[in-house]
Amino acid sequence: MSRWYANLINFITLEEDPPPENNTTGGEDVMKTLIIYDSYFSNTEKIAQAIGAAVSSLIESREDVVVVKVDKLEQEQLQGIDLLIVGSPTRAFRPTKEINIFLKQMSENQLKGVKVIAFDTRISTDDTDSRILNVFVKLFGYAAKPIADKLNKKGGELILQPEGFLVEASEGPLKEGEIERAKDWVKKGLNQYID
Ligand SMILES: Cc1cc2nc3c(=O)[nH]c(=O)nc-3n(C[C@H](O)[C@H](O)[C@H](O)COP(=O)(O)O)c2cc1C
Repeated sequence: MSRWYANLINFITLEEDPPPENNTTGGEDVMKTLIIYDSYFSNTEKIAQAIGAAVSSLIESREDVVVVKVDKLEQEQLQGIDLLIVGSPTRAFRPTKEINIFLKQMSENQLKGVKVIAFDTRISTDDTDSRILNVFVKLFGYAAKPIADKLNKKGGELILQPEGFLVEASEGPLKEGEIERAKDWVKKGLNQYID
């Protein structure tokens, strides 16, 4: 085959190649994200919504970010996600019962290939007078770590260390600056994955 003919074939073949399967801006910035939270007094909900807004600000399409309370979650919402963020109020050193049930019912390896992040809301030990309570906190910790461990156990890739956001008292409000801190925290964690 002559060279010009080979080049012609090559040219035609290249022209007919389908466009690369990619998003509009070229990087890995289509990140289908699901944020699942529980909340009694709306503080964890506020952090979840703020985190959702922060993720939305980083990616192309806002529809790719869904924030849902755990009792409203539909199983289909877990399908095809790239990033799962789970948050809970700390209650008796643990996540809420509903969050625990959700974590438990996931099948082994359900989160394979999914990036995961966990957070909680909590009261600072600086704000409790009880020394015995602070000893318990040291022993048993907060909700975010067991959530992260469980997400990881289900195959998820933990991309940020679990984090807690502070409330002034059991019913809130959130401490000043915590909403902004939550946004900065998640953006910092995702920067390396998004162009
Ligand atoms: C029954 C109960 C148990 C709690 N246990 C803890 C705890 O173990 N550690 C902690 O830091 N805060 C604890 N708190 C404070 C909660 O973390 C706080 O109510 C929560 O962050 C508020 O979030 P929400 O508004 O989303 O429900 C507890 C609060 C309640 C009402």
